[in-house]
Amino acid sequence: KLMSSVALGVLLATAAIAAEPVPEDLRETALELFKALPSTIPSVKDNKITPEKIELGKALFFDPRVSASGVFSCNSCHNLATGGDDNLETSIGHGWQKGPRNSPTALNAVFNIAQFWDGRADDLKAQAKGPVQAGVEMANTPDNVIAMLKSMPDYVTWFKAAFPDEEDPVTFDNFAKAIEAFEATLITPAPFDAFLNGDTDAMTTEAKQGLALFIDKGCTACHAGINVGGEGYYPFGLVERPGADVLPENDKGRFMVTETADDSYVFRAAPLRNIAVTAPYFHSGKVWDLKQAVAIMGESQLGENLADEEIDLIVAFLNSLTGRVPEITYPILPAETAETPRPIS
Ligand code: HEM
Ligand code: HEM
Repeated sequence: KLMSSVALGVLLATAAIAAEPVPEDLRETALELFKALPSTIPSVKDNKITPEKIELGKALFFDPRVSASGVFSCNSCHNLATGGDDNLETSIGHGWQKGPRNSPTALNAVFNIAQFWDGRADDLKAQAKGPVQAGVEMANTPDNVIAMLKSMPDYVTWFKAAFPDEEDPVTFDNFAKAIEAFEATLITPAPFDAFLNGDTDAMTTEAKQGLALFIDKGCTACHAGINVGGEGYYPFGLVERPGADVLPENDKGRFMVTETADDSYVFRAAPLRNIAVTAPYFHSGKVWDLKQAVAIMGESQLGENLADEEIDLIVAFLNSLTGRVPEITYPILPAETAETPRPIS
């Protein structure tokens, strides 16, 4: 009796999965909606990427002296060892303050049309100036960052190498450009890319079934393109507004950027690359389980209660977006001198 009910269970589970066929033309359909990551470092606007800039940007990304306290580097909240984020509900910054939003991954961020959950920075060089000055993040000033950098001869040499045509290259603009150049290298090819590039065995059957569902259900209306999202703005709660436990009422998203009533609770459709390793989810960071995040999306954006088996398959697809992080050697940073500004708490 026990055996037969186990067998029945297996049969039912198989039936549920088999009911979701992998369409013959799945790859062709996917190629119309998505784009594989490039195999070379992408170019960015108004910032020629050179090896010297990348190296400098890497040092800056890992240097905690960019923060007023000397405690926080970019890597504190965008830890490249843990998915390019901090795995906290919302980030902890200067003076143990808790910020208002979840930290998005820095991985592949170069491909988002604009940066931050509300898209308020046009690109990575504009973005990099934000955290330095944010009171709840690094609580520093551009002048103090420049004083810090100029106090260490190695940094001055590195800026000269990265910006060879400039008289006085240690500037806040160049600081941001170097970080952007380093971030442009943070791209993570995944099984999904191999699939798009023609290796149809690179994804499991479940992942392919999940991809077919992701397309059929309409997730691709908002999550498409090279980053499977990160390309447009939509109300979180398009069909049904999630509760305040997931969508806190005080954060109106893009409304703060555009001051248009229509933009209340509008956010950038999140890029979904590496989503399996960047819990917790949503700008509030209130959801830890990817299955639950998918279920919430089904209800809030599509008005649909996704079945458990459907959610499992979609999650299998999302798992195929976890890519290989480029190998990064931890940089050895210049030592402080007598002129280096002292940390303040
Ligand atoms: C957003 C990079 C420092 C927390 C971002 C984004 C990037 C980035 C690229 C946008 C990603 C996206 O929109 O998908 C950097 C760099 C830093 C830095 C280069 C150093 C200069 C920090 C620090 C913290 C932090 C120290 C935590 C204390 C956050 C949070 C967001 C964010 C919470 C989302 C904010 C919002 O949407 O309003 N960062 N970050 N970042 N970062 Fe950083
Ligand atoms: C966020 C998946 C449909 C717009 C997310 C997140 C996931 C996800 C996992 C969390 C990302 C993160 O925390 O980094 C899905 C799936 C869908 C779907 C599986 C189909 C079942 C849609 C649709 C829209 C949309 C149709 C637009 C109408 C957004 C927006 C966010 C988001 C705006 C950011 C929400 C926030 O502010 O926290 N999606 N999504 N999604 N998605 Fe979807």
